[in-house]
Amino acid sequence: MAERTKYILDEAEMPTRWYNVIPDLPEPPPPPLHPGTREPVGPDDLAPLFPLALIMQEVSGESYIDIPEPVLDVYRLWRPSPLYRARRLEKALGTPARIYYKYEGVSPVGSHKPNTAVPQAFYNAQEGVTRLTTETGAGQWGSALAFACATFGLECEVWQVRASYDQKPYRKLMMETFGATVHPSPSELTASGRAILAEHPDSTGSLGIAISEAVEQAAADEGARYALGSVLNHVLLHQTIIGEEALKQFELAGDTPDVLVGCTGGGSNFGGLAFPFLREKLAGRMSPVIRAVEPAACPSLTRGKYAYDFGDTAGLTPLLKMHTLGHDFIPDPIHAGGLRYHGMSPLISHIYELGLMEAISIGQQECFSAGVKFARTEGIIPAPEPTHALAACIREALHCKETGEEKVILTALCGHAHLDLPAYGSYFAGDMVDDELSDDALAESLAGLP
Ligand SMILES: Cc1ncc(COP(=O)(O)O)c(C=O)c1O
Repeated sequence: MAERTKYILDEAEMPTRWYNVIPDLPEPPPPPLHPGTREPVGPDDLAPLFPLALIMQEVSGESYIDIPEPVLDVYRLWRPSPLYRARRLEKALGTPARIYYKYEGVSPVGSHKPNTAVPQAFYNAQEGVTRLTTETGAGQWGSALAFACATFGLECEVWQVRASYDQKPYRKLMMETFGATVHPSPSELTASGRAILAEHPDSTGSLGIAISEAVEQAAADEGARYALGSVLNHVLLHQTIIGEEALKQFELAGDTPDVLVGCTGGGSNFGGLAFPFLREKLAGRMSPVIRAVEPAACPSLTRGKYAYDFGDTAGLTPLLKMHTLGHDFIPDPIHAGGLRYHGMSPLISHIYELGLMEAISIGQQECFSAGVKFARTEGIIPAPEPTHALAACIREALHCKETGEEKVILTALCGHAHLDLPAYGSYFAGDMVDDELSDDALAESLAGLP
């Protein structure tokens, strides 16, 4: 009989609770601060931006939060997502390692982002909000929120980072098909956008700028709220359905991961996969090494400073204690648009400071080479972001080949590249460059920390 390569759960086995890692940590993460008073922000400070249900999840001390039935019902369109054993990739690498990947590209928009877009739209609709504003980098988050808003009858307005808007016209069309309105960012529609354009008319934009524009618009409209696709505790909470499913699938496989790798932009797909495994590790039931992988052009965890900084460029958000490259840092327009964010989730940053995980950075050429190898062996073309995780996975598997270790590697394959193929075109044409962030540029942007 052929050996199994695919581990699928029945719908009835889909987890019905999200997992909150905070109560299990040796100490809680530092709170967000009000930019004016420098005191911890309270629910009232966040109310113009988020519905109460999400604010309560953001500060929750509960270990588990029930997933509402209408959200489970939408999740069932594509969840549980498959876990695969990458046997063909293992063979091509000649490694004794066993490689598994949890594939989130089966969602309606092709990534993990709907796992949080759906509950965010649900809670907003439940509290009478009629319009959501947001930013998008890769276009995956904007597509996910557009889909979720269509599902729960909300208007959706998206500021798409200029570099991505130009590189990915089909993402814009996908968002419009779901009924959203899409603007390139920086735009002339907001004071934050106009300020950037006045100084840099050719700005390629950044997630920080697009967040400022979306926040500014939400704050000015009583019926609107803002939705964030990564970074915050409630977003990572919603993504833990990935790791909870993967734990059950590893039981089916009769295996246990030794190394877990995932790409990090703001930290949501990584945290979503890793946190349930971290719970098991903290409880002494397994001991995987947990490793984040970020782009060399935007290395917030590995080279950023752990400090209070704004989540956006204009300084409209609360101050978050996180690994940051500085809120006005504009990363080079690498193809992994979803990884071009100046900060890292405060929760991931805190866990990193506690020494419970590792981080590395990799240049984009090695990542696309890994993406091509993966596509040619496993048949799935990975989105530019998770090629970073795959590059790290291949490094680990090749290390096992040298040492003969039979390690079990788990990676988050958080999306496919069907609308990102021009990035592969650039790789094949040989015009992709590895932009490593210079020390001078880093020092300059860190000088602007509040
Ligand atoms: C496919 C994909 N992977 C990863 C990311 C990075 O975000 P996060 O670190 O929150 O998972 C994005 C963000 O847009 C994305 O679209």
